[in-house]
Amino acid sequence: MVNLEVKLSNLRFKNPVLVASGTFGWGIEYNRFFDIGLLGGVIVKGLSLNPRQGNPPPRIVETPCGMLNSIGLQNIGLEKFVSEVLPQFDSIRTNLIVNIYGSEIGEFVELAGRLNNYKQIAALEINVSCPNVKAGGAAFGKDPEVVFVLISSIKKVCDKTIIVKLTPNVTDIALIAQAAQSAKADAVSLINTLTGMIIDTKTKKPFLGNKFGGLSGPAIYPVGLKMVYETYEKVNIPIIGVGGIYNADVAVQYILAGASMIQIGTANFVEPDISLKIIEGIRRYLEDEEIDDVNKLVGLAHN
Ligand code: DOR
Repeated sequence: MVNLEVKLSNLRFKNPVLVASGTFGWGIEYNRFFDIGLLGGVIVKGLSLNPRQGNPPPRIVETPCGMLNSIGLQNIGLEKFVSEVLPQFDSIRTNLIVNIYGSEIGEFVELAGRLNNYKQIAALEINVSCPNVKAGGAAFGKDPEVVFVLISSIKKVCDKTIIVKLTPNVTDIALIAQAAQSAKADAVSLINTLTGMIIDTKTKKPFLGNKFGGLSGPAIYPVGLKMVYETYEKVNIPIIGVGGIYNADVAVQYILAGASMIQIGTANFVEPDISLKIIEGIRRYLEDEEIDDVNKLVGLAHN
């Protein structure tokens, strides 16, 4: 028997596998395909204080090297989320993490403060890395001082576990992770999508309505892996690895690089129950390697 249970601040997760924000809807939809209570946790799609329409279409395109999206944080807003989505989680036995977005610090703080009242929510993932919105978004996540002020302000109004989701579109991601750590974030998750674009050769124009988008899928896994590896050497808080994980082997690579937990994103669109296969694959790897605890694997690639 191997142990897959992990802890993050005061939370227990039955395994290290989470589903990434924006790739699993509000979470509850996937319960049709399998028991989402078997996951370590569910991170719901980016939520803002007020409903958002998102960017003009087209907003998603498949490329030979991955998926490009420019959604722009379309969502139903706080009020509808707490009245319609949250109650559905009463009977789901997994950790619910809410990814939140604000166009300015005050909006993030108000949202975090209001979500603090709901017992169904285990943690917040602070989205300072969306490449598809002008205010807030990755603009916040590229400046260590803004990250420090933002996370410190959120910590004053919210005592839930705080995870900060980082952008790869910077020169030194570890510097941003250190700012999050100084502000007492409980963990960082990395990476969000890598900015990119494609051009339609018939119209001779950028394909996406918003011109640029965020690339996800297997192509970005070596990028995410390197950033996790580098960040692990520079911070003491847990790292949640995300970026192109599509099988257990890649998941194990992220853990060896220093991730205490991992998130499955774009692969959910290809195979809705891929996360369960990855959990089983991690278990089998540990058995084959005769390692009795997944926590013992974290960061081993640095030895
Ligand atoms: O690539 C992304 N797209 N990252 C995010 O954080 C949000 C999402 C969107 O809504 O644009």
